[in-house]
Amino acid sequence: MFFSLRAHYDRFIHVRDLAYLRSIAGINPVKVGSLLSYGAHHRVYVYGKQEVIKVPIARFAFLYSTSSHLEQDLSLLKKHCSWLLVPTKVYANNRHTHHCVVQQRVIGQTLTASKMRKHQAAFNRVLRANAVLIKQHRSAIDLVGGEGVLSCFRSVFNRAYQPYFSNMLLVDGQIKLLDCELLRFSCTQFSGAELVRYFLSVVAHIANQWFLYFIGLSKTFYFFLWNEKE
Ligand SMILES: Nc1ncnc2c1ncn2[C@@H]1O[C@H](COP(=O)(O)OP(=O)(O)O)[C@@H](O)[C@H]1O
Ligand SMILES: [Mg+2]
Repeated sequence: MFFSLRAHYDRFIHVRDLAYLRSIAGINPVKVGSLLSYGAHHRVYVYGKQEVIKVPIARFAFLYSTSSHLEQDLSLLKKHCSWLLVPTKVYANNRHTHHCVVQQRVIGQTLTASKMRKHQAAFNRVLRANAVLIKQHRSAIDLVGGEGVLSCFRSVFNRAYQPYFSNMLLVDGQIKLLDCELLRFSCTQFSGAELVRYFLSVVAHIANQWFLYFIGLSKTFYFFLWNEKE
């Protein structure tokens, strides 16, 4: 019973997402395939043979990053850590009310805490790029992601469970960032939505720091935005 309700709901959401995507020039809804995964902000569908398409989740409308925000984030990431990215493009309709992200589909290994410790040198490079983003642009990479933070809590109760970074994957031995939406520590205007986003960014950043400390990738738990010694 529950599963059939769930299947109906998923189909309803799929149809609604297709209608949403139809208003965005450059997107071919026929290429949208099955639901691959979802995060806090996007549902991720297979798109054609080699890509995924990320559709914003409506219930978090107040948290939406606009297409221009996402484009800014992407260009900052390209400038400071292009080696971390896979080909990604932001699409929007003319009035910029609807947007989505098309990204190369990545098939890689889950980056668990123990795997990341084996790639500590590469990860330190990510942390150095992140420190530059924070200092120069008051933005930070959401390394762990919401699911990753939850995996950390699960590992506290079940020792066999491994915390993992849900926004990154290991592809051919290289760390790749899938979630190109940055946490932002500045308000451009004094509006409720901006303040909520600011607050959530700070909370997410502290959760990231705590995660790194918990899994032993950072020796000190910093409450500050960045580690001065980095
Ligand atoms: N390019 C990709 N290839 C394969 N899977 C992906 C890709 N991008 C995202 N995913 C999957 O979708 C999940 C959510 O994607 P993400 O970009 O983090 O969305 P959100 O903005 O909602 O956090 C990821 O944890 C990953 O499992
Ligand atoms: Mg994510």
